[in-house]
Amino acid sequence: MTKPPPRTQRNRASLAYKLRYATRNPDKIRTYLSRVSRDVKLRLANRGHVAYYRAVMRSDAAKSPEAAVGSSTRDRWLKLGQMQFDYLLQHGLKPGDRMLEIGCGNLRAGWRFIDYLDAGNYYGVDISPDILLAAQNTLVRQGLQDKLPHLSLVDDLKLSFLPERHFTVVHAHSVFSHSPIEVIDECLAHVGRVLAPDGFFDFTFDRTEGSEHHVLREDFYYRTETLTGLAERHGFTARFMDDWEELPHGQSKIRVTRPDA
Ligand SMILES: C[S@@+](CC[C@H](N)C(=O)[O-])C[C@H]1O[C@@H](n2cnc3c(N)ncnc32)[C@H](O)[C@@H]1O
Repeated sequence: MTKPPPRTQRNRASLAYKLRYATRNPDKIRTYLSRVSRDVKLRLANRGHVAYYRAVMRSDAAKSPEAAVGSSTRDRWLKLGQMQFDYLLQHGLKPGDRMLEIGCGNLRAGWRFIDYLDAGNYYGVDISPDILLAAQNTLVRQGLQDKLPHLSLVDDLKLSFLPERHFTVVHAHSVFSHSPIEVIDECLAHVGRVLAPDGFFDFTFDRTEGSEHHVLREDFYYRTETLTGLAERHGFTARFMDDWEELPHGQSKIRVTRPDA
């Protein structure tokens, strides 16, 4: 069998990719087909991406909150959270930071941020009520009630209910990898209002070096220059984080700051 192309050159939406994948993984065909059929039903029943993806999360979180945020086992959930935490610690996070986590999920990394930051300084938002309930369970399990984190349900990424220039760190891990470009555009258009003057916004994305594409409107693949260009059009400086690439993680990371930060 020929070797599959590197991760960033695969077009997972193409028929050729799907056929090759099915040949190599016949045991996964059934699961894939049931996912296609579920997603078609959810798309018909829910207008707009946020409503659709919220329904996907409801369905996934009912089976396993860990799997719903992308970790197939508890051990992987712990390791992936640790990886996000360690990276941010090495890249500027301080206990006094005021952090906004966009798409906080069930606090895979969030509970570590909450534990580390001064009380009251963590603010998590998510579109999924089901995953926010799972986030509360994580808080209880980790005994972090006294840290008084905020967890809020959102319907969009305008962030209009949050204060101006407040957050020194904004973080979105594995959120834009599930977002169409208009959701990312909305976020970048509004995040500057809540970001402190010397703050930064780190986000991961599924990177392609070929054509941009999506799979089932669940997973979206972007070229780096699309997202850095969008950030720059919204007045930010955008930096591709090369050292994140060295970590055992399938996504890439960009940091955006104000040009004068
Ligand atoms: C793969 S999970 C990652 C969760 C968390 N960041 C982590 O690393 O564990 C993606 C999360 O983003 C949330 N999400 C997806 N689109 C969103 C949006 N437009 N606004 C806010 N949250 C979103 C989902 O509900 C889900 O909880």
